[in-house]
Amino acid sequence: MVKVAPAMMCADLANLEREVRELEAAHVDQLHFDVMDGHFVRNIMGPDTMAAVRGITGLPFEVHLMVTCPDDYTELCARAGADIISFHAEASTSAYRTIKLIRKVGCQPGLVINPSTPPCAVRYILEDVVTITVMTVDPGFAGQEFIPRMLDKIEEVKALIADQGLNCLIQVDGAVNKRTLAQVIRAGADILVVGASGLFRAGQAYSTTVEEIKSLARSLRL
Ligand code: DX5
Ligand code: ZN
Repeated sequence: MVKVAPAMMCADLANLEREVRELEAAHVDQLHFDVMDGHFVRNIMGPDTMAAVRGITGLPFEVHLMVTCPDDYTELCARAGADIISFHAEASTSAYRTIKLIRKVGCQPGLVINPSTPPCAVRYILEDVVTITVMTVDPGFAGQEFIPRMLDKIEEVKALIADQGLNCLIQVDGAVNKRTLAQVIRAGADILVVGASGLFRAGQAYSTTVEEIKSLARSLRL
């Protein structure tokens, strides 16, 4: 079943508790927290928003580390309540070591690849992560344009996973919305990060959007 993961940087941060409760009631599957160091991407956001809501929900928290040195943030994110810590293949010079560090702090490791990074770059590490996130926009900001050629890449990553007989899930992050949803699901996405256009500024109740996504996924997967 396709999972829905709201990108919390797009939520109404002035009413975060209300947002989390509404998302929980809308049956989202996990929350996606972007952490940015202003260097790997030209935006800055820490794990404090995640820490602020850790105590009010049992939903799994996944951190998307858009930072130049992911090893420096594993402990901080674990303490802030992360369940999964996803780091960029482009940011880690020693991904096996980063994965070990993430497991050492009690979290599960995820890997992220930017739009211009080929799937073969993760071929020898896929079996050590629980999710591989295919960015469908250049990272750092919500509300960007979807990059259509990423659909082929999602299919290539799916094939890589199948070839190796792995059960690593494919997460898609960036401009997943009404216009791109069906193609992304058909290409093989298992987890959909939905941000501004896909959820928070979709102009309808979160529960309506989440139900629309899940029923579309059901119809496409049968
Ligand atoms: C962008 C972040 C995404 C983003 C998604 O760098 O990684 O999580 O917030 O927002 P939309 O869905 O609006 O692109
Ligand atoms: Zn993200």
